Amino acid sequence: MARHLITSAIPYINGIKHLGNLIGSQLPADLYARYQRQRGHEVMFLCATDEHGTPAELAAAKAGKPVADYCAEMHAVQAEIARGFRLSFDHFGRSSSPQNHALTQHFAGKLAENGLIAEVSEKQVYSNTDGRFLPDRYIEGTCPNCGYDKARGDQCENCTKQLDPTDLIEPRSAISGSTDLEVRETKHLYLKQSGMRGQLNDWIDSKSDWPILTTSIARKWLNDGEGLRDRGITRDLDWGIPVRKGTEDWPGMEGKVFYVWFDAPIEYIACAGEWAQAHGLTDADWQRWWRTDMGADDVRYTQFMGKDNVPFHTLSFPATILGSGEPWKLVDYIKSFNYLNYDGGQFSTSQGRGVFMDQALEILPADYWRWWLLSHAPESSDSEFTWENFQTSANKDLADVLGNFVSRVTKFCRAKFGESVPENGTPGPDEAALIETLTTRIRAYEAHMEAMEVRKSAAELRAIWVAGNEYLQTVAPWTTFKTDPDRAAAQIRLALNLIRVYAVLSAPFIPDAAAAMLAGMQTDDDSWPDDVPAALQALPPGHAFTVPEVLFAKITDEQREDWQTRFSGTRD
Ligand code: MF3
Ligand code: ZN
Repeated sequence: MARHLITSAIPYINGIKHLGNLIGSQLPADLYARYQRQRGHEVMFLCATDEHGTPAELAAAKAGKPVADYCAEMHAVQAEIARGFRLSFDHFGRSSSPQNHALTQHFAGKLAENGLIAEVSEKQVYSNTDGRFLPDRYIEGTCPNCGYDKARGDQCENCTKQLDPTDLIEPRSAISGSTDLEVRETKHLYLKQSGMRGQLNDWIDSKSDWPILTTSIARKWLNDGEGLRDRGITRDLDWGIPVRKGTEDWPGMEGKVFYVWFDAPIEYIACAGEWAQAHGLTDADWQRWWRTDMGADDVRYTQFMGKDNVPFHTLSFPATILGSGEPWKLVDYIKSFNYLNYDGGQFSTSQGRGVFMDQALEILPADYWRWWLLSHAPESSDSEFTWENFQTSANKDLADVLGNFVSRVTKFCRAKFGESVPENGTPGPDEAALIETLTTRIRAYEAHMEAMEVRKSAAELRAIWVAGNEYLQTVAPWTTFKTDPDRAAAQIRLALNLIRVYAVLSAPFIPDAAAAMLAGMQTDDDSWPDDVPAALQALPPGHAFTVPEVLFAKITDEQREDWQTRFSGTRD
């Protein structure tokens, strides 16, 4: 038995995520976690909400709520939606947890002890009206280059010139509009990661098995100098993790918090602590996943994320871990994804464009989305969601192929033999041929799942479903029955058993339908078909079953058009 630590990039707290976010990390991570559990391995699957930073503060202000309340509410909303999609986290934590506060401060303390923190004095814009320092992009003014009057402190949107806030003519606060601004001197902490280039380079070089998408992004950032510049890890904000050196005050850092990208990945670790606390367990119980001196040596750690997150996970977070000099577990494998586009454009949270997770569940059960998204995962390139494609593949794969197989077999058996596995007849060459095909395909499916080749896994699973249908089409028990009922019985016995095997194999992709299939077969034997011939005899002659409800209703043209219109604009 192996031990798998699996994390998904933690979604920002502000707002409900869209389907592109879902397929970019949480959903494929869930697929892998479910698969490894089914294969009998010990799994710790963690995710959380990413709750700090200016966007969280601004979203709370917009909602008219104290930021802590806003985050608590949005966490509950995201947790509920995650349950709706059957994301099987062992814990869905919060980066604002006490555990993450303590651990983030601990890491900062260790980094300082190891000489990896520099204190740097900077000039920064302070808004007297707002009573706070303003991040560059919250300062607006007139562009000195083109005269555009809504240029931001970091860049002019009109002429694309990169700016400093002090370049702006008549600068004002984007929060209050106030022009009562002044430049103040303030101190910040920098992580001296530039000196770790060699160490990080060697580490990434040692990962020859990583996907090209991951290593190419990592190398680009490593080599072009930008990626490993010393990085400011503190901010002048109210909401966040107060800057402390371990448990001690940090002189000069009063009123400052850590930068959200410093504390967010540390939440991967803290989340395990939250998990332990939620289950009344000890520190040793979570540390065996995370500390190589506490048993995490034999843990295989896999991270899932969208490509924009790769630099933080290949450089910044490892720099934090390595810099601490402590025996924390480093990631073993990073699976990253390209983007999913929506109907000729991009999904966009800020513009409310596309289908959001709550809306998706309002119109169809999770399995439809899980199947489409996973079978079209943006692995080798960006992929696109269109309603036509969604309708076609759901109707074909789920309704015509899988659903139809289950319904035909169970209904035919009920009509001719009753609601139990028929007894008579012996298998012949057609059955042997099917078993051979299935064995080859199931072994291929396992290899793809193991390698996290999501699309290939889906294609193989579909081929496994198709093989059953083709068998049924070839042996045609409804015809055989007229001349040789015993042969038909043997065929249906195999087919009923195949439904159980389909349930087991399909569960990582479509867990609800899989559960319904097992329930229909009245079995809780969900053992993996290591031995395919044996697995196809698990339900013995005489074993009772019931005909399951329709597993997948077809998406009608009318529904599709309706949704197409409904989701063509932006969400309000
Ligand atoms: N919230 C970030 C995003 O959605 C991801 C943070 S992942 C972590 O892009 F590593 F920082 F936790
Ligand atoms: Zn300009």
